[in-house]
Amino acid sequence: MEPTQADIELFIQSVSKHSDYDFSDYSIKSFSRRLEKLMGDHRATVPELVHKIGKDRAFLERLVREITVNTTELFRDPQIWQSIRNMIVPRFKYEDFINIWHAGSSTGQEVFSMLILMHQVGLYDKTNSFATDLNTEVIEVAQSGVYRFREIDEYIDNYSAATEGLSLPPPEEYMEISRKKSTIKIKSFIAEKPKYQKHDLVSLECPWERKFHIIFCRNVLIYFNHELQNRIFEMFHDSLYPGGALIIGKHEGILGDIGLKFNKYGTIYIKK
Ligand SMILES: C[S@@+](CC[C@H](N)C(=O)[O-])C[C@H]1O[C@@H](n2cnc3c(N)ncnc32)[C@H](O)[C@@H]1O
Repeated sequence: MEPTQADIELFIQSVSKHSDYDFSDYSIKSFSRRLEKLMGDHRATVPELVHKIGKDRAFLERLVREITVNTTELFRDPQIWQSIRNMIVPRFKYEDFINIWHAGSSTGQEVFSMLILMHQVGLYDKTNSFATDLNTEVIEVAQSGVYRFREIDEYIDNYSAATEGLSLPPPEEYMEISRKKSTIKIKSFIAEKPKYQKHDLVSLECPWERKFHIIFCRNVLIYFNHELQNRIFEMFHDSLYPGGALIIGKHEGILGDIGLKFNKYGTIYIKK
């Protein structure tokens, strides 16, 4: 059953009363869908969920994990990776180091896609890779670098599309693909490079004490309302070097004055 506006408010208030999580600036539409799923999965009304949240912190953490959408892929939206390879990365090839932050990295496929690309263009050793997510469970999967069977063909197709027309090694150079074990394992020279940290974008603080050449935040902001999106864009703007690139999702965009501080190329925004 669809939660009412009062249910949504009750749930959000209860979570923020008992933790640091604040969902009050999430988009009502997507939050309502997620809450409805939670009610179905737990066969509980919102007052019942709220009652348990107040008594059981582990349950609250579990609900927060379940409410976030973690879908991702290796080389998701392959065309963007061609733009990153041809248009973005060459801008930084003469830098001494290249700092990259993936905000809302989920299980790490985007992080590994970028590291594979940096390896292919000969900039891997200069790359410092950082990744954050609200959900610690997805960070643990990212740290393991192991993915399940059903994704194998999709990932190989994405890799082919992202590297089309280029004479590059096959995906096996970067991952062990076992159809027998039904797994894809990112090789350790790639999997061990990124630094991960739990981080809530709602805090509006950059968790890393440095500036970045590239920030990815794809398919995360779509869950927030426009005011929160704009505040996060400001934080990303402050965290980028001049000329640095912010890469957002295919269905996302920057609205309002903050957009004037970037030059826009599709879903890639270059800090002026
Ligand atoms: C759909 S995934 C996107 C993964 C990857 N960026 C991609 O595009 O394939 C969204 C991720 O954002 C994370 N997320 C949601 N709210 C967040 C917040 N307030 N702070 C940080 N991460 C958040 C979720 O846990 C989830 O892993």
